[in-house]
Amino acid sequence: MKKILIKHFTIAASVALVGCTGAYNDIYKDSSASVDNRVQSLLSQMTLEEKIGQLNQRSMWGSDDEAMAYFTSEVAVGNIGSLLNVPDAESADSIQRVAVEKTRLGIPLILSRDVIHGYKTIFPIPLGQAATFDTALVKAGARIAAIEASSDGIRWTFSPMIDIARDPRWGRIAEGSGEDVFLASMMARAQVEGYQGDDLSSPTSIAACAKHFVGYGASESGRDYNSTYIPERQLRNVYLPPFEEACKAGCLTYMSSFNDNDGIPASGNKFVLTDVLRGEWGFKGFVVSDWASVGEMVNHGFCADMCDAAATGFNAGVDMEMESQTYINNMKQLINDGKVSMSQLDKSVANILRVKFMLGLFENPYISTPQEIKYAEEHLQAAKQAAIESAVLLKNDNYTLPLSADKIRRVLLTGPLADAPHDQLGTWVFDGDKTHTVTVLDGICKLYGDKVSVVYEPGLAFSRDDNKASIAKAVAAAHGVDAIIAVVGEEAILSGEAHSLADLNLVGGQSSLIEALAKVGKPLVTVVMAGRPLTIGKQVDESNALLYSFHPGTMGGEALAELIFGKVSPSGKLPVTFPKAVGQIPIYYNKNNTGRPALGNETLLKDIPLDAGQTSLGCTSFWMDAGFGPLFPFGYGLSYGDFKYSDIATDKDTYKVGDVIVASATLTNEGKYPATEVAQLYIRDHVGSVTRPVKELKGFKRQYLEPGESAQVVFELPVEQLAFYGIDMKKKVEPGDFTLWIGGNSDCQLSVSFKIEN
Ligand code: BGC
Repeated sequence: MKKILIKHFTIAASVALVGCTGAYNDIYKDSSASVDNRVQSLLSQMTLEEKIGQLNQRSMWGSDDEAMAYFTSEVAVGNIGSLLNVPDAESADSIQRVAVEKTRLGIPLILSRDVIHGYKTIFPIPLGQAATFDTALVKAGARIAAIEASSDGIRWTFSPMIDIARDPRWGRIAEGSGEDVFLASMMARAQVEGYQGDDLSSPTSIAACAKHFVGYGASESGRDYNSTYIPERQLRNVYLPPFEEACKAGCLTYMSSFNDNDGIPASGNKFVLTDVLRGEWGFKGFVVSDWASVGEMVNHGFCADMCDAAATGFNAGVDMEMESQTYINNMKQLINDGKVSMSQLDKSVANILRVKFMLGLFENPYISTPQEIKYAEEHLQAAKQAAIESAVLLKNDNYTLPLSADKIRRVLLTGPLADAPHDQLGTWVFDGDKTHTVTVLDGICKLYGDKVSVVYEPGLAFSRDDNKASIAKAVAAAHGVDAIIAVVGEEAILSGEAHSLADLNLVGGQSSLIEALAKVGKPLVTVVMAGRPLTIGKQVDESNALLYSFHPGTMGGEALAELIFGKVSPSGKLPVTFPKAVGQIPIYYNKNNTGRPALGNETLLKDIPLDAGQTSLGCTSFWMDAGFGPLFPFGYGLSYGDFKYSDIATDKDTYKVGDVIVASATLTNEGKYPATEVAQLYIRDHVGSVTRPVKELKGFKRQYLEPGESAQVVFELPVEQLAFYGIDMKKKVEPGDFTLWIGGNSDCQLSVSFKIEN
């Protein structure tokens, strides 16, 4: 009875009881009490040292006795609130036992890890998952990752990475959802919901972490960790929305990024970490710094020393510090000197404790997910489905694909990625075991080996291999087959953190391999497995069909085999624009118009007459050597079906704020194969208080159609979704004329007009 009454006290009333009753002290152990009361009960009993310990996150560097002994002793004295990279389930439970059973208050650790696109069962890299435009599948993948990770004690992942990225030189483009605000926002929500599940306190729910907050994807020249220069309006209209969506989806944690934006390192940026995140969005979880990024503010030249960095990071809003230990080493002094306030410290500790309570860690600190859940058959099948839906068909002349296993007798499989169990898993794979990988060679042999004889001749040993000696063997083999499948691209190590490139052509001897194979004159199917868009114009020209598979994960080989031999049709769409040449970067579809837009009939380099007059070419916005457009636009992707859009309409001509625009079009599969199309809805706001993008994605839908079948694709678009930060930096819908398109990629033409009135 007493407990029930106490549960309903307000926080202020409870605090007044501190020290008066043992019952109050024990509230934090009572799972039926409210989370806020539990937090206050615990906080009120913590020493300064215990509070500071909660802010400290360390990475375990190994599983040897020395590491275990060191971290066990640090946890035992309450110096650590979270560990990342605990090596295995046994160590996880054993170190958690120290926190829970050997410390004065028994505060559990929150154990964390980079579970980025799967834990053991590896899904396609996040850029590939975005290419599915399938939020349900992405959510299911995150759920599976959470289930597998929690079986090793991990209750917090540093994912989703939702940095808008418009520069494929930046290796970390692999980790996010690409260039588009709406797509990245939907993928952010899907991943947060998947990781965190329906019930946060379930032992298989893991906290998500929206990263990197914020603007990191705009690293100047695509060089990782580089400075960014994002003005506030662009920050609010482009870079912040996926993070706001994650917050709305209940994301429990955020990670401050490495970059300095306009001179302010993200880990010292109070405007975004506190004013926007907590003030505007009402975030109640906690912020962790990226690895050592608090201490690195000294390198940036933003802080004089580690003590200054601790004060700057903490006062800006970084609650927990990853790895650089400036808090644990300096916080006591900073409190004594009055440079950090006790009330701010209490708020940050409360933010961290709140998440620990919400995750049910006080009730269930130890592992209860069964170990055998890893690589469960249903997990592998979901990963395969994700790999199928993530592949994007970029070219298919005269229906080269699908190959018919009934007609083709011999096929040459070549290229350094055709049997690359490690590399097809992609970047950020710490736990996926390559012995579980199904490569393209495995997949084709397993699924079609009884009908088709497979000649495997890699030509090159790995993607960077420039020893071209073996290319001749592949070419010789090509003469004796009915079709060639060449799997080229990038090794996993070429994308991801700190792996930027200045040249995006195929590395090593791969370009020569494709060129030589093309000359044989047999149908050439090129599969590119990579972590980013590559400049593959030459290979597109040389191949009869080209399938782009962002590193597809554990089951990639089976997925690609089924696509190549037509068991299923490709349905992926590009989540990022593919440039023709590196010099076009950054190139993205949702750009603003210039005052001199390209007309499409510009004279290119080779056609400029000698001694041409200065203005004889006209003065429009394009590249003389690359034209205006990209190699492939955002949203592009072919299918074995043949989709046609017609009869676009909206339910009204004029709308007001509060209305919902109902827009529809007829989609018909005029092809011979059943297939799924991703129908996309774009809008343009023609005149704004500031210039607006020429097109913006506002909706997408996957639609399956049998040959000859039609369906109406219907979108409901709340007028509020047309709002943006205009001249007065307030978010609102501006009245005026709009165009709305429905089609299969961002270059679609079928459109209708509508108006917004006040
Ligand atoms: C990366 C983060 C990652 C963290 C922890 C950093 O280097 O930028 O994305 O979560 O390390 O491993």
